[in-house]
Amino acid sequence: MSLYDEIGGEETFERLVQAFYEGVAADAELRALYPEADLGPAERRLRMFLIQYFGGPSTYSQERGHPRLRMRHAPYPVTLDMRDRWMRHMLAAMDTLDLPEPQAEQMRDYFLRAAHMLVNSDDGIPPTAGHGLPS
Ligand code: HEM
Repeated sequence: MSLYDEIGGEETFERLVQAFYEGVAADAELRALYPEADLGPAERRLRMFLIQYFGGPSTYSQERGHPRLRMRHAPYPVTLDMRDRWMRHMLAAMDTLDLPEPQAEQMRDYFLRAAHMLVNSDDGIPPTAGHGLPS
């Protein structure tokens, strides 16, 4: 059984991504990066992608082709600050769902790695800031 099935299939991903985009909508600085006035289409793309990634139907690739996430984020300045905002909203959305472990941990782990991989712009904050390392 896929993680998609284990956590409740499409309905769970609908709730996750809806809660996530409520967070984005309320975060003016992150919201400003999203090009469309209506967040609905972006919500649908993220939902389809996550469903596919976690083992559900592959509608995302049928409609959009290979995900190539890094390339698709190239037009948007993903700074450390934006990555952290994105993560905060996703973790808050996860918390609204009360998902089983270890599936929730597997998802948090994926989001952390993927969000880190998508950073493509420097916002001037030293990468070690706040990590207690000598700068
Ligand atoms: C786990 C990390 C992430 C995943 C899995 C993810 C996934 C996606 C996907 C699937 C799309 C739609 C691509 C397409 O088909 O065109 C997208 C778009 C976008 N993402 Fe991300 N993303 C992540 C992190 C971030 C971060 C950290 C930012 C911070 C700025 C960000 C900002 C955007 C923006 C502005 C778009 C364009 C909205 C749209 O679809 O029209 N993403 N992302």
